[in-house]
Amino acid sequence: MSAEPVPVSGGFPFDPAPEEMRAMAAAVAEALIDWTAGLEDAPAEATEGGIELARRLAAAPPETGTRDFQHVLEEALGAARRTFEYSGPGYLAYIPGGGLYTAALAEFLAQGLNRYVGLWQPSPAIVQLEENVTRWLCTLFDFPLETSQGVLTSGGSMANLSAVVTARHSRLGEDFLDGTYYVTDQAHGSNTKAATIAGFGARNLRLVPTDAELRMDPVALSSMIQADREAGLRPFLVVAAAGTTNTGAVDPLEAIADIAAREGLWFHVDAAYGGFFQLTDRGRARFRGAERADSITVDPHKGLFLPYGTGGLIVRDREAMRDAHFEGAAYLQDLPPSGELPNYNELTPELSRDVRGLRVWFPLVLHGVEAFREALDEKLDLTERITAELEADPNIEIGWDPELTVVTFRMRGGDEQRSRRLLERINASKRVFLSSTLIRGAYWLRVCIVSHRTHADRIDECAAIIRASAAALT
Ligand SMILES: Cc1ncc(COP(=O)(O)O)c(C=O)c1O
Repeated sequence: MSAEPVPVSGGFPFDPAPEEMRAMAAAVAEALIDWTAGLEDAPAEATEGGIELARRLAAAPPETGTRDFQHVLEEALGAARRTFEYSGPGYLAYIPGGGLYTAALAEFLAQGLNRYVGLWQPSPAIVQLEENVTRWLCTLFDFPLETSQGVLTSGGSMANLSAVVTARHSRLGEDFLDGTYYVTDQAHGSNTKAATIAGFGARNLRLVPTDAELRMDPVALSSMIQADREAGLRPFLVVAAAGTTNTGAVDPLEAIADIAAREGLWFHVDAAYGGFFQLTDRGRARFRGAERADSITVDPHKGLFLPYGTGGLIVRDREAMRDAHFEGAAYLQDLPPSGELPNYNELTPELSRDVRGLRVWFPLVLHGVEAFREALDEKLDLTERITAELEADPNIEIGWDPELTVVTFRMRGGDEQRSRRLLERINASKRVFLSSTLIRGAYWLRVCIVSHRTHADRIDECAAIIRASAAALT
């Protein structure tokens, strides 16, 4: 570094000296390596004292900085200790993320490099690496590469938002308040939230009934569309789930694709949780029909085990996506339009954003696609394994046959209070951490197996904890 460092009162210069940078990075790497090594034995939930710690940490930033990097690092690590252990093998609540070290390294690199990817021209080859990821996502779902486009978002919710906005623009134009869209009560809330943000209200929402397996009833969908047309409304979007959050149910995608094609509706598949099971034979078979969607949401921070903060959307018709998001600006006139490479800002709500491509590309290249396929196949096997264990228990009742990797269960007979106590007991073990949900008004516990760190030993331990807890309550 040739320039003189800017003097900073008390703390580090904005660009610390090379040896300081080395020491700081080494301290972070060391901490993360220890952290990762400790995940196996870390409590699956450790929020006790978390709120008190939060209160102690509440403070405005100091006027004068500090050179005690280790202290600042320790404070952050301490804050991260009083949490759910999202990255550990026993975290089986909600939808687990993973937290790949290779993605974290890529993120450090990306932030350090600080390249700009809102438009392609400033960093063509970095955009290309991101395109390697989004092209792969399109290929994974057999979308035609000539017309389709993927983008990486901050998560599934933002991907669903861009999908709804694209659908609205493509099918309804500017006067859209007579549009109606169709989801089931099992759809993730981010879909209706997206529609609300996109300007729709309760009167535009149609909740399509589900069958006994909690899958969208296509016959009901058809007749609701028909009734809305007869009422002079404009049905424009159907959102199907390729893996609901509650139970992992997969809507009948082929039948829905047929209806959407016949009726001219935009067909969006929310595969935020389930999407990457498409890598496996079993997943691909269950998702048949997804390849006919207009758009699909996937979440690398779920099925690719990335740290939180990376979702994705693929859209069959790139132009529809661009038409819905494009806003020209005179101050960008020096930069060329999308061509061989896309301008992501023409396709999404964002202009400036972090480089998301590297944190997906690093793991895909370093581990290889096959490693992800095998890990996801293992999750499907583990689901069968724990389902069999719980089915064999006279005190436990299984809710629905898992299609992916969510197992729902409760105390046999459905006594809600006892099932609530069951969850408390299981989570008190600190070896596993589960969550609950309401399905058709009834209380169910869920085991959701996604993390690359969850293997047969922890799943067997989880089954044993559940069975012992249920026996103690009987
Ligand atoms: C099916 C489904 N859709 C959308 C989302 C929202 O994704 P995100 O939390 O990445 O915004 C989730 C999150 O769990 C989900 O399971």
